Amino acid sequence: MSSNNEKMSFQEKTETNVWLLVATLALGLTVAGIVEIVPLFYLPQTMDAGLTEEEDNIRPYTALELEGRDVYIREGCYLCHSQMIRPFRDEKERYGHYSIAAESKYDHPFQWGSKRTGPDLARVGGKYSDEWHFQHMMCPKCVVPDSVMPNYPWLADALVDHDTTAKKMAALRMVGVPYTDADEAGAADAVKGKTEMEAMIAYLQVLGTMVNFQEGKDYRK
Ligand code: HEC
Repeated sequence: MSSNNEKMSFQEKTETNVWLLVATLALGLTVAGIVEIVPLFYLPQTMDAGLTEEEDNIRPYTALELEGRDVYIREGCYLCHSQMIRPFRDEKERYGHYSIAAESKYDHPFQWGSKRTGPDLARVGGKYSDEWHFQHMMCPKCVVPDSVMPNYPWLADALVDHDTTAKKMAALRMVGVPYTDADEAGAADAVKGKTEMEAMIAYLQVLGTMVNFQEGKDYRK
């Protein structure tokens, strides 16, 4: 502490005056945010991740996949599963090409996560058959004896709520997902009579399959 007759330094002033502290923090975070975030909206690497037209098959989820994704969120699968492969050798050898920003451009909210009690699911699409997923979701331990994943048998009985699918699409359109009027109009019929299990499997099977990754290409460039 400085004595009363010494002039207080700027740091001491901010540490002893809460409003000055709040103001300097706000200023600091604003500047740092602008410097870090704004370039991401203009850099080609983050916009299209260097994908060529033929590699970029990223599309919005179909009505059924979208409903599956909502069940995934509702059931809290993200509490044990990430969907974000980091650019490290061990991750790439286990899961495949690391995740690129473009892959989650239509995900609101994205499901990157960080908790991995179970494996990352970013590239699980096509890894197993639909039947495998069905059996695994009904009783993970029956398929993988050491599994600590819970059973989700109710998904096989519960029907997707087809009344809300089009509304979800409309909401996603507002944040930039390019659904069309035709997508919205067909949404209810596309999911009518489908179980939540079918929706979940459709969602799991599309994960990581939209980008045609080429061996050895670094998609951050
Ligand atoms: C308590 C943690 C936990 C929760 C919650 C959980 N899982 Fe799992 N999951 C695991 C574990 C552990 C494994 C690895 C063993 C296995 O295959 O069962 C796994 C494996 C998987 C696999 C196979 C991945 C692979 O590459 O082999 C899929 C698919 C999967 N989980 C989907 C889901 C879905 C969908 C949900 C939500 C409905 C969910 N999990 C919820 C822990 C969890």
